[in-house]
Amino acid sequence: MIAETCKTIELEKSLSNIELFEEFDLTDGHPWVSNINSNHANYYNCLYKIANREKPRRILELGTAFGLSAATMLKASPNIELFVSLDLGIYGEQLGFSQNNIDFARTRIHQWCCHRKIPLNRIRFYRANSQPGVVGDNENFGVEIRKWYDIPDLVRLLTHYEFDVIFVDGKHTDDGLYNDFVTVWQLLRDGGLIICDDLHDEKTYGKIFSWAGQTLESFHRFTNEHKAEIDDQYIWNYPRVMPMDYTGLRPFGLIRKKKRMILELTKKWFDFFNKQESLAIIQARQDHLASLGLDLSYKSVLEVGCGIGKDTCFFEKLGCTIHSTDSRPENVAEYLRRRPDRKGFVDIVDLNCSNSHVKFGKFNIVYCYGTLHQLENPSQCLKELSKNCKDLFLLETCVNSLDNGNINSVYADDQGEDKPFNEIKCRPARDWIMQELKKYYPYVYCTRTQPAHSDYPIIWPANREEFINTRCVFVASKRVLCHPTLIPDIPQSQGRLEPII
Ligand SMILES: C[S@@+](CC[C@H](N)C(=O)[O-])C[C@H]1O[C@@H](n2cnc3c(N)ncnc32)[C@H](O)[C@@H]1O
Repeated sequence: MIAETCKTIELEKSLSNIELFEEFDLTDGHPWVSNINSNHANYYNCLYKIANREKPRRILELGTAFGLSAATMLKASPNIELFVSLDLGIYGEQLGFSQNNIDFARTRIHQWCCHRKIPLNRIRFYRANSQPGVVGDNENFGVEIRKWYDIPDLVRLLTHYEFDVIFVDGKHTDDGLYNDFVTVWQLLRDGGLIICDDLHDEKTYGKIFSWAGQTLESFHRFTNEHKAEIDDQYIWNYPRVMPMDYTGLRPFGLIRKKKRMILELTKKWFDFFNKQESLAIIQARQDHLASLGLDLSYKSVLEVGCGIGKDTCFFEKLGCTIHSTDSRPENVAEYLRRRPDRKGFVDIVDLNCSNSHVKFGKFNIVYCYGTLHQLENPSQCLKELSKNCKDLFLLETCVNSLDNGNINSVYADDQGEDKPFNEIKCRPARDWIMQELKKYYPYVYCTRTQPAHSDYPIIWPANREEFINTRCVFVASKRVLCHPTLIPDIPQSQGRLEPII
């Protein structure tokens, strides 16, 4: 239990701030030196002891400031594989410091990493706004700083990896902490821990801190709304900085996410979705989608051919509302067995039928990955789904290796399927797809790179002997898109997306 852990830490010998920060060269040269030199300020010792017990491999931090909490958590985490920290990068200037605070933090901490031979691409600092909407820091400065979800590298990292520990120390005022909780909850692994601070109550601290009462309200609101997913929570009124009186107290909030127990059923058709090969394709194509720099966050999404729901969390992590459909009742049943919370948002719908999705209305994004080639009549599917699409149609499908302008019908083989849903499928050519999409969308694109998976050729026509499946990604839009990642023509050669780490 978190409360007991905190009590134990209170009785343990503390690490001094000098012990914590000397090796990072952080005992001097920044505006928070007064806390470093005080034996009274146990804040970072508390953070160290909590983080250390979690043995985290991946940590996310919102609010880097001068890197003190980042340094603390890194020192506490000898098994670290990925550390990501974001900050508006305006705090240094606000405190009259000569350097950009995030650059300062990165430089000091990367020097430490070099001494310890920790690869720098695993310890990453970003100038980014963690908040949704037109909101910045406590006084709403920094609204012009790019949002995390508009930075493709951050989207790639945060949608791909789950984090063991997330330290939330950015915007405190208004709904700032609540908003950050909502964002990071999707990024936290089951069983992982969120740590936040400054849960000051209004009555005692109303005249002292602008956020008094507001952080606490955010904490209670979030934990009430997510009760069913929370294993344990605690407010720890013990960590402190200077000065020595009660105004130095910095109450931590700690929230442990429940572990979901999903019993894997064996020998089912949907074993296919759990196979390493299938998961590798899903990962590669989502990483690729994240890299495109498209405006995907906080959108309504229609996900067709959802299978057992392996793709849905990509959009959940971006704050989207998603409606998912699949033609196979057994897939939908398995999806809902794994995710009962999605009841009402997953339906059995057959893309072969006309007007199949009309009843669901319009969505900003229609996401059709891995499904078109399963159908006998792909033109019907593209036409139907165009009725649901307000802005963007995202398509990934197996295609013919040659651009021959045809649908290229094929008889279903038995690869992975005990009973194919459609006897006749297709391997539409890229040029056929582009022409067909242009009937419904004024702007249609291929992508400059292909996902990092061997099913996606980079030289066309693809060598048929080399590929069992040749896959490709298309983006169709109601508005012109000027992204360097997209091309309006059908490329004869494409790049391969480089891994982010
Ligand atoms: C209290 S300081 C963080 C202290 C740091 N965690 C430590 O203990 O060493 C808060 C930081 O969050 C940043 N911040 C505030 N609002 C933010 C936002 N919306 N997005 C990203 N960073 C934000 C501030 O600019 C400031 O640098």
